[in-house]
Amino acid sequence: MCGIVGVVGNRNATDILMQGLEKLEYRGYDSAGIFVTTGQKNSLVKSVGRIADLHSKLALDIAGSTGIGHTRWATHGKPTVDNAHPHRSQTERFVLVHNGVIENYLQMKEDYLSGHDFKGQTDTEIAVHLIGKFVEEEGMEVFDAFKKALDIIEGSYAFALIDAEDADVIYVAKNKSPLLIGLGDGYNMVCSDAMAMIRETNQFMEIHDKELVIVKKDSVQVQDYDGNILERGAYTAELDLSDIGKGTYPFYMLKEIDEQPTVMRKLISTYADQDGSMKVDGDIIKAVQEADRIYILAAGTSYNAGFASKNMLEALTDTPVELGVASEWGYHMPLLSKKPLFILLTQSGETADSRQVLVKANEMGIPSLTITNVPGSTLSREATYTMLLHAGPEIAVASTKAYTAQVAALAFLAKAVGEANGKKEAIDFDLVHELSIVAQSIEATLSEKDAIAEKVQNLLSTTRNAFYIGRGNDYYVTIEAALKLKEISYIQCEGFAAGELKHGTISLIEDGTPVIALISANEVTAAHTRGNIAEVVSRGAHILTIVEEDLARDGDDIIVNQVHPYLSSISMVIPTQLIAYYASLQRDLDVDKPRNLAKAVTVE
Ligand code: G6P
Repeated sequence: MCGIVGVVGNRNATDILMQGLEKLEYRGYDSAGIFVTTGQKNSLVKSVGRIADLHSKLALDIAGSTGIGHTRWATHGKPTVDNAHPHRSQTERFVLVHNGVIENYLQMKEDYLSGHDFKGQTDTEIAVHLIGKFVEEEGMEVFDAFKKALDIIEGSYAFALIDAEDADVIYVAKNKSPLLIGLGDGYNMVCSDAMAMIRETNQFMEIHDKELVIVKKDSVQVQDYDGNILERGAYTAELDLSDIGKGTYPFYMLKEIDEQPTVMRKLISTYADQDGSMKVDGDIIKAVQEADRIYILAAGTSYNAGFASKNMLEALTDTPVELGVASEWGYHMPLLSKKPLFILLTQSGETADSRQVLVKANEMGIPSLTITNVPGSTLSREATYTMLLHAGPEIAVASTKAYTAQVAALAFLAKAVGEANGKKEAIDFDLVHELSIVAQSIEATLSEKDAIAEKVQNLLSTTRNAFYIGRGNDYYVTIEAALKLKEISYIQCEGFAAGELKHGTISLIEDGTPVIALISANEVTAAHTRGNIAEVVSRGAHILTIVEEDLARDGDDIIVNQVHPYLSSISMVIPTQLIAYYASLQRDLDVDKPRNLAKAVTVE
């Protein structure tokens, strides 16, 4: 949700900013811009569209050793050149990039900025005008003006500010939106995500909320808003440049789908010893044991992964599991049990909606566990406990390997707790062995890509809508399968409990409506789902079946190797990921960067 980069020092700023923006493009891609300065000559280039569009607008003489850049996901104001960042103050002396939402921007405009001319409609432009006003109209020092503006601004932000008359400094501040400082030799950087600057350095410094940073080429000074200087060490980002490349793949999504067997094996080696015993943090096990109810809070695909894990978690831990949509729970918390444990499930660890729930949980003294792919992310820092997904960077906007890693990570947690409770089912559940079988099942499905692509071509190439149906765990998978298809193929799709369809929604089935049915695990519900398939077929639906091998019949379309029922959400989701991928590809859409979306949604 908007990506920020900045650099000050002895390097070619244009090059560093542009490569950084390319890495951050997953955060927003409707417009982009950079400002670079030599100290004498200032250049501002902005463009609607992708980073590649910005590239094509860069003249050779856009040079300097200080600069800031931004890739936008529009909140206030349409994606236009005028609304693209960086924004400048009235006299163009101050230049600002911003990620977040300033809630009181209209009030600020009314209270302070009468007579100012604005080029666009963004909240950010108001903020930079305010800083400029304090310096140029009220004679304040730049740093004080920045601080005063921060005192007035309400909302979420990561800011990077340049004073074109003093190009040796970038002023930075953060509240709720992510921001890191990258440390170089003779130059320092600012970025929303370490990925942006990993080509330049693996040394980063965290910035916490309500902190200000003065970044110069040889120094980084962190302060709180009261002016106290804070000591802050660096950490090493364990990211490999090759992890964030596409390699020979046409799209990140396909690469990430293919990586899932490896991720399963990585989780086995992380959370189990050679002899198969669990390596889950004892404090986390205890926290689950002490809870009388587990609440999983999440958004999007992570929410769906929570659902896909619910039955297994309840069966192995004997603790009820309730799911909550993070954007709702942040403000409409239902009546909780006496000893709740909140599990924040989040690939990025930065989702603002999920963070809002955590803020509330912390205020209420509720213990929390963040399960995330990103060490050091905001939700990881602010929760009582963290478990990592070890899925490697996920760059395609449509999440795939994070979903399966989340279900697998929760399986380790569930087994570890069940074992600690002495529960027979947990002790007998050989998770290491079963997850290895899942990895093989995924590989088998991946080897059927061409056949799946052909079936998708026949079923989904022209349709406007579609349904997924299933029962039990398969129902939970259908919700994720439908989301994936919607996100990247723009086919309106709903995941439905197969038995519920006849209670109303079946009225939408007409000649040629595609219905994809998932059947795994249970013979009784399998028979019922077959019945539901017959109901829609007799009303004209075109059916595609995804069936576990032991339940398969002649004529089924995609056969998935049998796995342990606790883990079938992982193996059953793989064909649906491929279905979404091929539907998007065949419709000639941008698989990795679907319209209107962003990967890390850092606004509420
Ligand atoms: C966005 C992304 C989704 C993702 C959701 C939650 O909406 O487009 O793919 O599932 O955020 O993200 P998180 O990082 O918290 O898992």
